[in-house]
Amino acid sequence: MAETLALDGGPSTVPDGMVQAWPPLTQQDKEAVLAVFDSGHLHGTAAPRALELQEKWAEYCGAKYCLVTNSGTSACHMVVAVAGVEPGDEVLVPAFTYWSTAAAVLHQNAIPIFVDIDPKTYTMDPALIEENINYRTKAIFPVDIHGMPSDMDPIHEIARKYDLSVISDCCQTHGAKYKGKTVGSIADATAFSCNRSKNLSGGEGGLFTTDNEEWCRHAAMLREFGEVVVAGKDREYNAFGLGWMYRNHEFVNAFILSQLTRLEENNAKRKEFAQFLTSELSQIPGLQGPFTPTYADPVYFSYVVEFLPSELGLDVPVTEFKDAVQKALAAEGIGMGQWQSMPVPAQSVFQEKKGYGKGCPWSCTHGRDVEYRGEDYPRTLEFIANHSYLSAVHPPNGMDLMELYAKGFRKVIDNIDRVMELARV
Ligand SMILES: Cc1ncc(COP(=O)(O)O)c(C=O)c1O
Repeated sequence: MAETLALDGGPSTVPDGMVQAWPPLTQQDKEAVLAVFDSGHLHGTAAPRALELQEKWAEYCGAKYCLVTNSGTSACHMVVAVAGVEPGDEVLVPAFTYWSTAAAVLHQNAIPIFVDIDPKTYTMDPALIEENINYRTKAIFPVDIHGMPSDMDPIHEIARKYDLSVISDCCQTHGAKYKGKTVGSIADATAFSCNRSKNLSGGEGGLFTTDNEEWCRHAAMLREFGEVVVAGKDREYNAFGLGWMYRNHEFVNAFILSQLTRLEENNAKRKEFAQFLTSELSQIPGLQGPFTPTYADPVYFSYVVEFLPSELGLDVPVTEFKDAVQKALAAEGIGMGQWQSMPVPAQSVFQEKKGYGKGCPWSCTHGRDVEYRGEDYPRTLEFIANHSYLSAVHPPNGMDLMELYAKGFRKVIDNIDRVMELARV
């Protein structure tokens, strides 16, 4: 007999207080941050922890150069700028991303052109890129989503054909590999976020990597007011071009450095949990774990679940099924969430074309008007409708929590008629 749902007054599957938040904090993290107070270096691009983090992250990714920044967004802006993107130029961005990727293009007064995703890997579909290229296109800007690396070889091939740069938003894929190569060393320049939720967390912060020495020099100027700031040399106070204030704090650098010592271990746990959950979900009709293409070694920034009501013989819209199941799971103590509610081009900023004002970049001399319509990205719409992410599939949570998740999923699906009935009242 099926167990009584928590919604019907039965015991919840996951006890209160069991789920722990990301990132796992240790005494080592605390000491690393506290040591900054006594170091005599609170900030600065030439501060010791900034330099150490740059060296270690470049080495980890297999990139020649790394710059620490204060956010993933600033790192994204830097990769766009160093690719030589100028007002009115166009950059291809996936329609399914955090909008910061597209904002980085707008920061250069350039125009994001959106490309739909591969429905299985939820990253930019290389097959849809060429139809979006024109003489204004300067760069392709794939985004690794939910820990899944983008399919980079065909993207590079297209970029070579049209003489474009490939810049990469890897804000969600620290340590992921594409065909055995660590992300951060695959695109011409790459941006990472170290905000609180990310696999490599510093609370906030970002990282920029490239193999191109000239691009690195340019990015360093952009990071610090357009000036050239050299470790051990007096500052000239002369801006060589437009720049921003994208420096990071030494507290954050110390925190990221400490977390970096456990990145591999933490990613390994995420993979173990994901493997277990995917195997369990393959035996539960109506739900499915993520697909992994052969080229990818993902790091499961988020663990996504697909909802398939037809597998249960239910003739209801997927969103109705998803909402009903999620409500029942929430009562069981199992949290699920929606990452992105619409394709980025459907967001108000693109509907109302709010760039720099006066219509820029779309109607300035260099630009062109672009019509952004959410319905032009059916795979993104479908992916958003059919999927949610499962909360807390990461350490310090353990396999005991993952086992309870699987048990809770089974319980809810075993009671699916009642779950759907409860959702209707
Ligand atoms: C794909 C993607 N790009 C860019 C960003 C921006 O990073 P940050 O929040 O550090 O500015 C994020 C983080 O939320 C992200 O997930």
